[in-house]
Amino acid sequence: MTKTETLPLRRETDIVVIRQRVRKAAEEVRLGLVSQTKIITAASEIARNGLIYGGGGECVIEITQREGRSAIRLIIADQGPGIENLDRAMTDGWTSGGGLGLGLSGAKRLVDHFAIDTVPGSGTTIELWKWR
Ligand SMILES: Nc1ncnc2c1ncn2[C@@H]1O[C@H](COP(=O)(O)OP(=O)(O)O)[C@@H](O)[C@H]1O
Ligand SMILES: [Mg+2]
Repeated sequence: MTKTETLPLRRETDIVVIRQRVRKAAEEVRLGLVSQTKIITAASEIARNGLIYGGGGECVIEITQREGRSAIRLIIADQGPGIENLDRAMTDGWTSGGGLGLGLSGAKRLVDHFAIDTVPGSGTTIELWKWR
């Protein structure tokens, strides 16, 4: 059984709600506390990027299974400019906007599966998984 919730990502306060809902889902999946913190941190970094660089979009939170284990799956998508050079953007410390440049690379390390689909001129979709 899969349970899905779609949340808007239009303003700063939406990130607070996304964090709360991801925490709720992580608890429901019965992730350990460390894993909960990891998926919440990854979600907020990716959501903030989607808002700041992507001009907003949405976040889908799914409670599902992966090879018989309970899992949380997040899809964070925007309709912004896309990421011009993905290898560069994934490099620790690289930022186009005066950030720390650790959001994408850090989020990737915090989750069990990370996938990114970015199309110049049409947007970016990032999938994050954490399972038990
Ligand atoms: N959703 C996005 N749309 C367009 N560009 C993005 C997006 N997410 C990240 N980027 C680009 O990748 C760079 C690295 O992102 P990140 O690692 O989170 O570092 P930071 O947010 O500190 O700049 C950003 O500076 C930006 O240029
Ligand atoms: Mg960032």
